[in-house]
Amino acid sequence: MSTELVTMDKIVSLTRRRGFVFPSSEIYGGLGSTYDYGHYGVLTKNNIRSRWFTSLVQERDDIVALDSAVILNPRVWEASGHVEGFTDPLVDCRTCKLRFRGDRLEDSHCGRKPSKRPGETPDCDLTEPRQFNLMFETSVGALVEEGSTAYLRPETAQGIFINFKNVLQLARRRPPFGIAQIGKSFRNEITPGNFLFRLREFEQMEMEYFVPPDDSMRWHEYWIEARLDWYRQLGLRDANLRVREHGPEERSHYSLATSDIEYLYPIGWSELEGVANRGDYDLRAHSEASGTKLEYVDPDGSRYMPYVIEPAVSIDRIMLAVLVDAYHEEDVEGRQRTVLRLHPAVAPVKGAILPLISKADAGMVEPARRLYEELRRHHLVEYDDGGNIGRRYRRQDEIGTPWAFTIDDVTLEDGTVTVRDRDSLAQERLPLDGVRAWLDEALERPWSPPDA
Ligand code: GAP
Repeated sequence: MSTELVTMDKIVSLTRRRGFVFPSSEIYGGLGSTYDYGHYGVLTKNNIRSRWFTSLVQERDDIVALDSAVILNPRVWEASGHVEGFTDPLVDCRTCKLRFRGDRLEDSHCGRKPSKRPGETPDCDLTEPRQFNLMFETSVGALVEEGSTAYLRPETAQGIFINFKNVLQLARRRPPFGIAQIGKSFRNEITPGNFLFRLREFEQMEMEYFVPPDDSMRWHEYWIEARLDWYRQLGLRDANLRVREHGPEERSHYSLATSDIEYLYPIGWSELEGVANRGDYDLRAHSEASGTKLEYVDPDGSRYMPYVIEPAVSIDRIMLAVLVDAYHEEDVEGRQRTVLRLHPAVAPVKGAILPLISKADAGMVEPARRLYEELRRHHLVEYDDGGNIGRRYRRQDEIGTPWAFTIDDVTLEDGTVTVRDRDSLAQERLPLDGVRAWLDEALERPWSPPDA
């Protein structure tokens, strides 16, 4: 299904209905742009996170892991430029009381007349833009006094730069090498919305790759391609991915060059991941502010400050892209079916075990439970005996389970089960004791979207 036909409302409704994502604090009326992940959301996020980590840390020799604190010494954010410069221009409307990004008025809608843009209607009374810092403030220690102000990190990257020396010494690495980190980041976004796309609390996956300055452009190109390829292998359709280079006016204060990997979300082409060449901006800033030299000394004794290539993304934005790409509605024998065609490696549940008749005297529950107990030791599988078989298939289709194994009366005669393929709806029979090996093998097979 083309992503233009997949509306955000459809994704919100399916993920809510099937327990992937809930609006946060719902029983208290919610809190703007924060969401809670339910069971299937957590499983899907775990799969995305683990593929990212595996591809960067496990399958390579040159990247090590880090998990730094969320709250850092506030001087980190002064040195990095965030206290001064991590701001959006903010405009208030005195009439409708809404708040807009001054640089995005064309994307905004007036509170009184939603068909109009702010400023387009005679009722709008806009203030002059003022700079609004996106960092959430908190205070450290029991007393709220001057000097106790700290910030929730707006990116995980700075935790990496301030540990550069530790890693260099202890991980016995030399440039080019990288440090990868996954963790929550926080931004007091002014114009949140669009579901998981722009959140106030999100989970970033960032990797800072330290290179000799002369090689930085080459490594920048390398990481753009490598990350694009990672998304293809995650099953996103090529037609929905593109690379867009930032113009000079668009680049962040630290960036020498940035390219976004964009995805065709229901809101249009938008940034999925940024791949920036940060130069030596951060290492230099922290060296100067802290007095600790963050540089590399090679075996001949010559020293230099590496440049940094940074692929940065949030799991939440990947999750949204994955859901949009996988969402399909189709007509099957006169009935509409909604199916998530997720890559089996990303799908929250790999297989469903379904006894056709769940009454104990039908004899199907016992072999079905036995199969379930065997498979669950190796894969995330689900046992489901609730409701008629059609309803159970529909439920598994909507959570994206690639295969369903059904135990029926033929099983009782010849010891075979039916395996139903989520995408083709083809069914074949397998011996009960061969299901484990069949599923292992199926999960190893290369996968690409059926309509790509
Ligand atoms: N360390 C660089 C950095 O943080 P960024 O472009 O501001 O750069 C990197 O953020 C990535 O983090 C984005 O490409 C996006 O995937 C994700 N991200 C940023 N802000 C987000 C938000 N409010 N909600 C969800 N994801 C966000």
